[in-house]
Amino acid sequence: MLPISPKTALCGVLLHPAGHTRSPAMHNAAFAELELDARYLAFDVPPEELGEAVAGARALGIRQLAVSIPHKETISGWLDAVDETAQRIGAVNTVTRVDGRLVGTNTDWLGAARALEREIPLSGRHAVVLGAGGTARAVVYGLRERGAAVTVLNRTVSRAEALVTELGADAAGPLSTLGDLDHQILVNTTRVGLGEDASPVTAEALRKGTVVLDAVYDPPQTRLLRDAKHAGAKTIGGKWMLVYQAAEQIALWSGRDAPIDTMADAFDAAGH
Ligand SMILES: NC(=O)c1ccc[n+]([C@@H]2O[C@H](COP(=O)([O-])OP(=O)(O)OC[C@H]3O[C@@H](n4cnc5c(N)ncnc54)[C@H](OP(=O)(O)O)[C@@H]3O)[C@@H](O)[C@H]2O)c1
Repeated sequence: MLPISPKTALCGVLLHPAGHTRSPAMHNAAFAELELDARYLAFDVPPEELGEAVAGARALGIRQLAVSIPHKETISGWLDAVDETAQRIGAVNTVTRVDGRLVGTNTDWLGAARALEREIPLSGRHAVVLGAGGTARAVVYGLRERGAAVTVLNRTVSRAEALVTELGADAAGPLSTLGDLDHQILVNTTRVGLGEDASPVTAEALRKGTVVLDAVYDPPQTRLLRDAKHAGAKTIGGKWMLVYQAAEQIALWSGRDAPIDTMADAFDAAGH
């Protein structure tokens, strides 16, 4: 790491409550390998202090902020601009300083697309997305951008239907219909599996030969991924989505290609 000076770029993640985050480890490992004069911190900011935090970031010249739960849908009001992608997804996960202005964008969609593309080209494939929250919106946007047909299944079907209409996906339904759907790609964006040994779908609904990405990355090996592997599917952990979306963040502020494997190793080393 280069020594800290007044020129050192400061980046970080805004989150609340202050839970465990692997983002500083991943970004700082990338900065070290790229010899970027930069540091990455984590900031616990409650919702009522978000406006002040953005004003502080502006005054301190912070180069980039990743935006995590619960701020992704509310931070846009304090920014100078929000790009078309983030507007369409309805969530900002990245704020970058561009010519003195704070600009919001979303890199989650690219993280999901690139993670899946490790195993399968997306154009012309049928993808099923489980969930209809903020992450689902980013994933559906990414799949549509890459030319996949998309079915959204959710516990609350009306939310899936609304998402399909808004983002131009193809069909909606309840989680229990997965087993009836011919598909090549499955992405879990529900919270089921986060910090628990549970899956949003039954093991019987999973298919041999499909590619399954779980956006949940804690634990790294979820029950869905274990069931999918057992069924003969190729599995991709949420780590890869996180790493690729972070790599795009680094490209946005520094213009550099981030070292994917170094970041993935840093993710592993930063476990609980
Ligand atoms: N790997 C990455 O880079 C990355 C990036 C972003 C997020 N994530 C992960 O993605 C997950 C979702 O985050 P989010 O912000 O999109 O959450 P969210 O907006 O709160 O959405 C939650 C979704 O989970 C569903 N759900 C919650 N509990 C359920 C249950 N018991 N059974 C069935 N469905 C249930 C909800 O269904 P209803 O609509 O019926 O309530 C909804 O579709 C989190 O685990 C997060 O850590 C990963």
